[in-house]
Amino acid sequence: MADKPKKGLADVVAASTALSDIDGQAGRLFYRGYDIHDLAGRTTFEETAHLLQCGSLPTGEQLAAYGTELVRGRKLGTLAEANIPEIAEKQAPMEALRTLVSLAGGDDPDKDSNSPEANLRKAARLTAQQPILVARYHAARTGTTIADPDPELSIAANFLLQITGRTPGEHEVGIFDACLVLHADHTMNASTFAARVCAATLSDMHSAIVAAIGTLKGPLHGGANEQVMRTLESLDPSAVAQSVRDRLAAGEKIMGFGHRVYKTEDPRATHLRKMSQELAEASGDDKYYRMSKEMEEVVFETKGLYPNVDFYAATVYHYLGIPTDLFTPVFSVSRMSGWTAHVIEQHADNRLIRPDSEYIGERDQKWKPIAER
Ligand code: COA
Repeated sequence: MADKPKKGLADVVAASTALSDIDGQAGRLFYRGYDIHDLAGRTTFEETAHLLQCGSLPTGEQLAAYGTELVRGRKLGTLAEANIPEIAEKQAPMEALRTLVSLAGGDDPDKDSNSPEANLRKAARLTAQQPILVARYHAARTGTTIADPDPELSIAANFLLQITGRTPGEHEVGIFDACLVLHADHTMNASTFAARVCAATLSDMHSAIVAAIGTLKGPLHGGANEQVMRTLESLDPSAVAQSVRDRLAAGEKIMGFGHRVYKTEDPRATHLRKMSQELAEASGDDKYYRMSKEMEEVVFETKGLYPNVDFYAATVYHYLGIPTDLFTPVFSVSRMSGWTAHVIEQHADNRLIRPDSEYIGERDQKWKPIAER
């Protein structure tokens, strides 16, 4: 008899990858063999995207060429451009991105090719366009206009400028850039798996990314960072511990805690906690940081759960002036680098992903004509 399926495919190895690796017991994460503790704060998001998509940390010359490709690639095509106003009116941010990336697929000059070269070009374009799509959507729904991104600025700096409307300080840009690095890839997480399943049918890069965006949207995955902020806003600052205990006692999940793979602290949370503290102190209002610390203590005491990447990312984005409903879109801006690299990797050594299922329904049913049912 076949083994019982592992619910949620826990511990099932679903693909081979050279992109990222997690040591869940030690709480370590590596991108192509580099410890993220060595990358965050020292390697830019653009370098990290190059590492994932092209296979190595770039030399100065490679980075300049990749930077030029990103600048050229971020110009939106007419199909996506023309539909932003109506989409901004009718769709919530993650729905809008799902639609806009699909439209951008129609605009892409390589849309009919799955060749490795075309996929690399599409990966750079998608990485360059995602922050612009978020910013343009936000501008459309708030009735503001934004300047074109400055080719001299990084993706992180341009994004903060376009979203907040003010020139960000160097410290803020450094922190946001490190956030993008920390979220870039994470082995076989749900959205990456969705992208790989789609890509493995030999469908195209944009279709795979649309599948990934739809998957990231859920509160058990990327949507958790927005829910963390909503929880903080809903709590009475003087009764955090009791409220969290009550919620846990009622069987509620506290968003931003727990992880399928890490059995100790998520290494990304270590950086994000520190960033949150720094930004809270700089802002002169550390209320949400203090509340987060208290939540962390109570959840650990009560359930033995550690914060995951989404917990402190919420307050970091809040202190950076990013609207709460754009937190998950920000995650997609970063994870685009990983998703696209996974599609390239899947196509390079492809086999259809088609697992089996355990049948738990009725058997031997006797068919009856409709009048007798
Ligand atoms: N708050 C309270 N309890 C939690 C919890 C949380 N955030 N995360 C897990 N648990 C508990 C579950 O209730 C379950 O308890 P039980 O065995 O008594 O029923 C146990 O821990 C195992 O949880 P489960 O949901 O089965 O683990 P999973 O591996 O399937 O899920 C997550 C992993 C990340 C989906 C889960 O921890 C979660 O829902 N976290 C909140 C959402 C979140 O932050 N997502 C972002 C992930 S990076």
